[in-house]
Amino acid sequence: MLSVKLEEALNDQLNFEVYSGYIYLSMSAWLSGKNLNGMAHWMQLQYNEELIHAMKIFAYINDRGGKVVLKAIQQPQTEWKSVLDVFETAYRHEQNVTGRFGDLIDLALKERDHVTNVLLQWFINEQIEEEASVKEIADQIAMAGESRDSLFMLDREMAQRQAAPAENGGKA
Ligand code: FEO
Repeated sequence: MLSVKLEEALNDQLNFEVYSGYIYLSMSAWLSGKNLNGMAHWMQLQYNEELIHAMKIFAYINDRGGKVVLKAIQQPQTEWKSVLDVFETAYRHEQNVTGRFGDLIDLALKERDHVTNVLLQWFINEQIEEEASVKEIADQIAMAGESRDSLFMLDREMAQRQAAPAENGGKA
C-alpha cells in the first residue's frame, strides 16, 4: 500500500510526464512549421515516450492499491527563438525531470517504501539516456551554427528514428 504522501507525489509525476509529452508535441508542431520534419518526427516520438512513462506510473499506482487522480495539464511553451533553443529547452527540461526523480527517491526511502524505490530506480536510470540523447542533438545543432546544409542533414538523420516497443518504456 502506498503512503498518502507517495500517492500524491506519484500522481504529480504522472501529470508531469503528460506535461512533458505536451511540451515535446508543441516543439514538434513548431519544428513542422519550420519544415524541419525529421526533427518534428523525433519530437513526436519523444511525446509518445512520455505518455508511456505516464502510463507506467498510472499502472503502478493502481497495482499498489492507490488512487489515480488526473489533474489539469499545464499549457506548454509554443514559441522558441531558434532550433537550438528548442533542444536546449528540452535538455533543461530533462535535467529538471531527473531532479524530480531524485526527490521522489528521497521520499520513497524516507517512507521506507522499497518497492516504489525499485520503480523509481528504473526512471532515474532512464534519465541518463533521456538527457544524453537530447544533449547530443543540441550540441550537433550548435556545431552546425549557421550552416543550413548541416541542419538539413541532421533533420534527415532524425527522420530515421524508430518508435521503440512500449514494454521497454518506449526506449529503442
Ligand atoms: Fe519521462 Fe523524458 O522523461
